[in-house]
Amino acid sequence: MLLPRARYLVPILAAALPIGGLLAVFLLSEWKLRAHDRPPPFDREIPVTVEAFAQGEHIARTRGCHSCHGARLEGTDWTPEWTGLGRVVAPNLARYAREHDAATIERAVRHGIDASGRGLWSMPSFNFRYLRDDDLVALISYLRQHPVSVDSLPLRYHTLETRWAQVARGEADQASWVHLVPPLLTEAGRDGPLLAEGEYLAMTSCIECHGFDLRGAIEGPNVTPDLAVVATYSRQEFERLMREGISRTGNADLVLMSKTARNRFVHWTGAEVDALYAFLGTLPARPVPTGVFWRAGP
Ligand code: HEC
Ligand code: HEC
Repeated sequence: MLLPRARYLVPILAAALPIGGLLAVFLLSEWKLRAHDRPPPFDREIPVTVEAFAQGEHIARTRGCHSCHGARLEGTDWTPEWTGLGRVVAPNLARYAREHDAATIERAVRHGIDASGRGLWSMPSFNFRYLRDDDLVALISYLRQHPVSVDSLPLRYHTLETRWAQVARGEADQASWVHLVPPLLTEAGRDGPLLAEGEYLAMTSCIECHGFDLRGAIEGPNVTPDLAVVATYSRQEFERLMREGISRTGNADLVLMSKTARNRFVHWTGAEVDALYAFLGTLPARPVPTGVFWRAGP
């Protein structure tokens, strides 16, 4: 009686194994994406004022929200350009900010957790971990007051490729990355407000590419120098790098850097350039940490 049925067992098993495998990858990656502690909800009032709009716009422009989410914050489908990262769609931020409460926005920006409770994948939340409450309040106010552009964005989802990367290669999402950003080195009370401000600005803008501790990245998406190199720049040369993207030696075509400076850092105030220059100038006297993310080697 059993034998005729056993004939079907082989094709059923042959079909069930890959389906089971795919299901296991899906469930495991879903579990990993959601295995993050939720931070306490951000409960600050969001004012609707011109002052908050202006401060928020300054944060958005200097931190590159427009570079990735579109000049009109209308959202961008990065899938064709950022290959290997799955379906990468940066949402329409003006709409998102109206449709979500401040706590959800804060969780995405500073903790790398999206509205559905999953870890974000390509949004550089690690760069915003230390964004101050007041700046974040202003940023949300700006996004909410910004006109909403029409968009035709495709749906974002995790492809099998990114899910496999998580399960098999142990790749981590942003909700894990934010915890790899090292503690700040300075305190306004001890080191003075100028250095503390400079470190704040650098740790919420330069670490996107220059390593989580500003001391360079030799692995990962961009190979970048230790920002101790700023000590070789005069104040004037540094200002030119920030505003025009031109290096000390006159190179106006630094990979990624020149474009990023002209898009984002051109918006620093003079006082912000001063603060950055002062803090980065202290780096040569500080030890270079080893074994950090993107710079695991000695
Ligand atoms: C380097 C590109 C990049 C920059 C810079 C960037 N984002 Fe994003 N952001 C993305 C991408 C891509 C996504 C889509 C989710 C993903 O793939 O991680 C996203 C998603 C989001 C989300 C949606 C979270 C959800 O629930 O799905 C919010 C909110 C957001 N970004 C806010 C901001 C703000 C505010 C700024 C500026 C301070 C900013 N982003 C800067 C690329 C970027
Ligand atoms: C989007 C990525 C990105 C961001 C953000 C970024 N940089 Fe860079 N930066 C680079 C890359 C890539 C290079 C190497 C360019 C090359 O070698 O051609 C570089 C090079 C530099 C250099 C060396 C230039 C030289 O003399 O050769 C300095 C100084 C510098 N960056 C400062 C900064 C500062 C300060 C910030 C933050 C305010 C910052 N960068 C943010 C990508 C970035």
